[in-house]
Amino acid sequence: MSEGRPGTGTEPMSVDQAADLAERVIAEVEKAVVGKREALLQVLAAVLAKGHVLLEDYPGLGKTLAARSFAQALGLDFRRAQFTPDLLPADLTGSFVYDQREARFDFRPGPIFTGLLLADEINRTPPKTQSALLEAMQERQVTVEGETFPLAAPFHVLATANPIEYEGTYPLPEAQLDRFLLRVSFGYPSPGEEYDVLARRLERRQEEVDLQRITDAEGLLAMQAAVETVTVDESVGRYCVDLATATRTHSDVLTGASPRGSLGLVLAARAFALIRRRDYVIPEDVKAVARSVLGHRVTVRPELWMTDASGRSVVDAVLAKVPTPATLERR
Ligand SMILES: Nc1ncnc2c1ncn2[C@@H]1O[C@H](COP(=O)(O)OP(=O)(O)OP(=O)(O)O)[C@@H](O)[C@H]1O
Ligand SMILES: [Mg+2]
Repeated sequence: MSEGRPGTGTEPMSVDQAADLAERVIAEVEKAVVGKREALLQVLAAVLAKGHVLLEDYPGLGKTLAARSFAQALGLDFRRAQFTPDLLPADLTGSFVYDQREARFDFRPGPIFTGLLLADEINRTPPKTQSALLEAMQERQVTVEGETFPLAAPFHVLATANPIEYEGTYPLPEAQLDRFLLRVSFGYPSPGEEYDVLARRLERRQEEVDLQRITDAEGLLAMQAAVETVTVDESVGRYCVDLATATRTHSDVLTGASPRGSLGLVLAARAFALIRRRDYVIPEDVKAVARSVLGHRVTVRPELWMTDASGRSVVDAVLAKVPTPATLERR
């Protein structure tokens, strides 16, 4: 999957070291983002698993703030692209520009050449530009006028989208949603948390929160390499497969999760185990990420669109039904 691209072959740090850093990154992000620990843990797990995240939520819930904060704490170069209806693929990937003096065309890289890209409101841009993004996410390279440019690792996309019922002009096709390892929602804060947002803002007397850099690109690569050392017992791997396949046979479902779904489940669960300071995965890790890994990979039957049935409800049902393997708490 990642062979031969920049950044591979990084020496892993120990699981303990990586868990320490993960804890500090979350604590740092939480200096800016109030009360979203569960969602933040999921986002971090996705990044540690080398994945991309879809943040689906209403405006004003702190998505941009969270993305920026993660970039700062992880020490990654940060770019933001607003996916307006007139955004062109070249606005994202970059393009060849004629250099008068040298009398030749030079490639001018677009905002996609970064460590963490905030792709804001991806459902407002037409399919051509969406595809350019999703292709780059998948291939970790861009092709412009027949020439291919690799994207240096780490490269992660946090894309934001409005919830289905407020979806913009161009909803992402199922096949493309699949490219996101996780889909996460922040949801509204509790009144207590919301007051905390206000109080902290008044306290610091400025809009910006200054966050410390906890690690950097190299450090993140070593953390990601540490995730690769986390072991998965066969029973847990089979549990991931059972969950994904069960989404395909559920009566509410039009199309269920593909093998990319079960693979995503095991990879995200592994990162979650590391965050929990374990070098092996237990079924609880799988359960912790199952809704955000599988929810967006399940399409419910069209006749149920006006009901409460959703990808998430199907995943909940599947979690309740599929037998959990005996845990491996002590080894
Ligand atoms: N949980 C939160 N913790 C701290 N600040 C928050 C939180 N939620 C919202 N805010 C504050 O609310 C404002 C809006 O946040 P932000 O711009 O990140 O929202 P958004 O989800 O990106 O919105 P949009 O969808 O419109 O881009 C910011 O000033 C931010 O600091
Ligand atoms: Mg925003």
